[in-house]
Amino acid sequence: MAFEKEIGKRRTFGIISHPDAGKTTLTEKLLLFGGAIQEAGAVKSNKVKKAATSDFMEIEKQRGISVATSVMGFYYKDKKINILDTPGHQDFAEDTYRTLTACDSVIVVIDVAKGVEAQTEKLVKVCRMRDTPIIVFINKLDREGKDGFDLIDEVEQKLGLTLCPLSWPVGMGQRFQGVYNMWEKNLHLYSSDNKQRISEGTSIEDINDPLLEQSVGDEAALELRNDLELLEAVYPKFDHEAYLKGAQCPVFFGSALNNFGVQELLDCFQEIAPEPQAKEAEERVVAPNENQFSGFVFKIHANIDPNHRNRIAFLKVVSGKFERNKTYIHTRTSKTFRVSAPTAFMASKKSTIDEAFPGDIIGIPDNGSFRIGDTVSEKESLHYMGIPSFSPEHFRFINNADPLKAKQLNKGVDQLMDEGVAQLFTLKQNNRKIIGTVGALQYEVIQYRLEHEYNAKCTYENFPAFKACWIESHDDAQLQEFSTLKQRYLAEDKFGRLVFLADSQFSLQMAQDKFDKITFHLKSEF
Ligand code: G4P
Repeated sequence: MAFEKEIGKRRTFGIISHPDAGKTTLTEKLLLFGGAIQEAGAVKSNKVKKAATSDFMEIEKQRGISVATSVMGFYYKDKKINILDTPGHQDFAEDTYRTLTACDSVIVVIDVAKGVEAQTEKLVKVCRMRDTPIIVFINKLDREGKDGFDLIDEVEQKLGLTLCPLSWPVGMGQRFQGVYNMWEKNLHLYSSDNKQRISEGTSIEDINDPLLEQSVGDEAALELRNDLELLEAVYPKFDHEAYLKGAQCPVFFGSALNNFGVQELLDCFQEIAPEPQAKEAEERVVAPNENQFSGFVFKIHANIDPNHRNRIAFLKVVSGKFERNKTYIHTRTSKTFRVSAPTAFMASKKSTIDEAFPGDIIGIPDNGSFRIGDTVSEKESLHYMGIPSFSPEHFRFINNADPLKAKQLNKGVDQLMDEGVAQLFTLKQNNRKIIGTVGALQYEVIQYRLEHEYNAKCTYENFPAFKACWIESHDDAQLQEFSTLKQRYLAEDKFGRLVFLADSQFSLQMAQDKFDKITFHLKSEF
């Protein structure tokens, strides 16, 4: 029973947003409320985005820092909250997609003035593919922004979500007076003079209570009443089941920078957010409360100490209890291993732990045997699904620039690909290696890391591909015909799966029209 209770306490989630919407600030404020840090300014993990693309030392430094902030655990009320950090820089979007596979729910931060931005759209799309429960936090209410109703409309339309506002702002920018919380039926007032929350929350059960006029004045009270009436008529009532299925998303308004609306968000979150969920493996669906331990690696962090090529594999516990020094199976290689120094991440500090429960993230020291997506289990040979590769946006040949260091280069490239820095494709025709990335920045990072960590040098050459499509065919003759025709554009990914590197939208369309028994997938799991 104690085991089930531990599972029931876990709330593991990620915060996603377009850069600058306020993700880092909100994370920090949640940690403050959770007592995990003592002062603001302790979380600076996302500032890679502010580094110039060629400033490698900065990137290296950031990578070091972000190990500590990759997972931030703290206790709030009786819940163990784990926040998984997601890189803000769009060139690291693939890293964020993978981290989302370890999140049981997400909070989406939206800037009230900017509304829905590109990166938010992409990330929410990934969440919707898995029906991840989502809470929306509209941030920066201390600034002038879009009208609340217009914004809710925009979020619904652009993100394809059904929203359910659980709080509503009283004014905005200069006129911002506070937020009425429909979840707790109380009003929190804000003072623009000291930019802080000034009331602990005035309970206003009945919105017609004259206390509302006394608190915000006649005009704002009338406006709020009208708004709430409209909200009630137009938006659905909060339905916990619908939220858990990803079919309805509660919305909160606030200002992370000014500590406003954050505690209300956290209070509601800890009450409604899902506990660890069952997960699909190739073999079967595994429930968290099963006795045997299992988990999967969703992130690998390298180069904590550049002199010893050590890495940390981040593993999410899916089922059973993880115990230090117990023998487990790495199911891809069928090898057994024991972890003598597993780490957990509490309050952005790393410490060795003896046990961990479903929902927890543990760090396993690794010298190169883990790959992203690997499953670890106690006895059963399980293979968790759900960490697909997405088609890269950029493609370049990688060439060895120092013939004496071919071995080092191959090893370096292999390990960097295992970490998920980029994707490797090998052309069927001549075995030339192509690196595919989401952003151009990765090529510089790879080149730098190969040189500094593996003592290998590389050059790149453009490969004119538009998208990578994983091929599925149930018709051998057609596949053969296609392979002959498109020989120059066929490659294998690092798992040996057949990939068509389409050179243009047009050529992909032609292939789809002509070869109707072949399906072209833009991600590796289908
Ligand atoms: P990100 O992680 O999503 O990229 O955003 P981050 O928290 O770094 O916030 C981006 C900028 O927005 C920061 O300002 C931050 O202070 C500001 N910000 C966050 N929340 C609020 C809010 O509620 N109101 C207002 N007015 N601003 C907010 P910066 O000047 O870019 O950085 P910094 O020098 O303050 O760190």
